[in-house]
Amino acid sequence: TIPVLTIDGPSGAGKGTVSRLVAKKLGWHYLDSGSIYRSLAIALLQQSVDLNDEEEIVKVAQNIVLEFECADELIVKLNGENITAQLGLESTGTVASVVAALPEVRRVLLQKQKDFRQLPGLVADGRDMGTVVFPDAQNKVYLTASAVQRATRRYKQLKEKGIDANLSLITDEIEERDRRDMERETAPLVMASDALYIDSSDMSITAVIEEVLGLIH
Ligand code: CDP
Repeated sequence: TIPVLTIDGPSGAGKGTVSRLVAKKLGWHYLDSGSIYRSLAIALLQQSVDLNDEEEIVKVAQNIVLEFECADELIVKLNGENITAQLGLESTGTVASVVAALPEVRRVLLQKQKDFRQLPGLVADGRDMGTVVFPDAQNKVYLTASAVQRATRRYKQLKEKGIDANLSLITDEIEERDRRDMERETAPLVMASDALYIDSSDMSITAVIEEVLGLIH
């Protein structure tokens, strides 16, 4: 079977950076599953879909066409349009986490995620990679950090991009997102029983990457 390394954890734990670099090091493919939910959020916002209209949301989910290009950063096209710039917005993440709680949405997006499993291997980053999408993955990591650390990292990222940000607001948003992701009924964020737990609060990215790479072979 095709090897998969899953990296799950809460918002802002550094999964994206770690997954991308580990994938590069191994020469494996990379699935940023959050960007699939984020792309759906953008499609819904573009089409002014009522976020209470479950049937309409599912219809949009069924029809989105996504293309991923792994350049220096991940480039995502939604129905042919480059949406990379909107992907990282906090508002996009918030809508993503709202629609990600709908079971039918998750069901529709499941196969799109499984399709990323291709030779020579896959690094899959998300909330339910090791529990739902790739339960048979050979290697699983649960990467987390304290809420304050995660908020501070997110704040710095936004600042670097020249986006105006407020730390206490971001902390609130992170805590609210944690609640939504962990308390929902469908595919809540939980650690897979066979995952390696890493708390990166006091670790450098390099140290985390080394620990993760140590799992492989
Ligand atoms: O960047 P950040 O970790 O904050 O978020 P993300 O990974 O891009 O995911 C955005 C939202 O999509 C999350 O808050 C989850 O609610 C949802 N998501 C999910 O439900 N399942 C996944 N496998 C990935 C993301």
